[in-house]
Amino acid sequence: MRILTLTDEQVLSLADMRQAVDEVEKAFLLVPGGSVESPIRTRFRMTDVRNVLLMPSLIREKRDTLSLKLVSVYPDLGVNVASTRAVVLLIDGKDGELKCMMGGTSLTGLRTGAVSGLSCRYLARKGSESLAMIGAGGQGFYQIGGVASQLGIKRVAVFDVDRARQKRLIERCEKELHLEATASETVRAATSGADVVVTATTAKTPFLDADDVRPGTHVIAIGAYTPESRELGTDLVSKASLYVDSVEAAMEEAGDVLIPIKEGAITESSVRGDLAGLVSGKAKGRSSESEITIFKAVGLAFEDNAVGWMVYSRAVQSGTGAWVQL
Ligand SMILES: NC(=O)c1ccc[n+]([C@@H]2O[C@H](COP(=O)([O-])OP(=O)(O)OC[C@H]3O[C@@H](n4cnc5c(N)ncnc54)[C@H](O)[C@@H]3O)[C@@H](O)[C@H]2O)c1
Repeated sequence: MRILTLTDEQVLSLADMRQAVDEVEKAFLLVPGGSVESPIRTRFRMTDVRNVLLMPSLIREKRDTLSLKLVSVYPDLGVNVASTRAVVLLIDGKDGELKCMMGGTSLTGLRTGAVSGLSCRYLARKGSESLAMIGAGGQGFYQIGGVASQLGIKRVAVFDVDRARQKRLIERCEKELHLEATASETVRAATSGADVVVTATTAKTPFLDADDVRPGTHVIAIGAYTPESRELGTDLVSKASLYVDSVEAAMEEAGDVLIPIKEGAITESSVRGDLAGLVSGKAKGRSSESEITIFKAVGLAFEDNAVGWMVYSRAVQSGTGAWVQL
């Protein structure tokens, strides 16, 4: 068997955020018709904060595509080790051939950024110009890229409890995305002037409350992915119009939604819709300039499939990567 291998650097060099947003949108459009199989992931809890996840998926289309991501999330290894490290395998459903093995760390960043960007198409105010980025780790750069690919973002305020990471993200943002980026001393300093707020941290307890965001803000919360952890305060979740990436996954994994439900502050029906509903027109998006919208994403396996196959096609076209005989 001969497969194409792509390093994380090569995945990054092949990345096109706008196309990635289009690819995830196409995949979400297939969900209501039943063409996407993306079971709730298997989670091995290694410690309180360390998890290893297995994420398989199938998208049935003209060509049936399968993917399998193996990802470890170890946020306590220090500043020089990425918390989220992954590998993605792609299998062609027509002939059952394993086609590609790629670095899944940058792919995860790319597809998560693309999904956040997609949420902006339906939920952010048109004319949004300022972004607050809370969390300057591995996901931060891609989140800014995803949001900026859909809105005319001019300014980014970055907050992280780790000042070295905060500085590094600001420099990268200016150099690679050509955005004006500044460091904020607190969460509130970053969010008080923002049209869009992204939280992408490894925090387990809430740090963003209703008072921290102004009317009309679109909040994207991607950091917490277990029922026990969350980034958003109950008051913010109860006050805002709440959307999720998948209702089914959120009801299993999203502490940001499940904890306020457990507290009795909201119910499952407080969730206005998910991305499949938004892209297919079954769920209504933002309805006023002043409402606060929340998009809570835990991350879904078929997003890796959609963006992974895009990267693979670009690699084959451009002759990138190394072919390996297994
Ligand atoms: N929803 C998804 O699809 C998805 C995809 C990828 C990663 N994630 C999750 O997103 C989170 C971030 O991932 P990463 O790869 O960027 O991790 P990372 O460890 O590289 O970065 C996390 C950053 O959060 C900062 N932080 C922690 N607590 C904070 C707080 N209270 N306030 C401000 N900053 C704080 C840390 O200092 C660190 O810089 C992880 O929990 C990861 O599992 C979710």
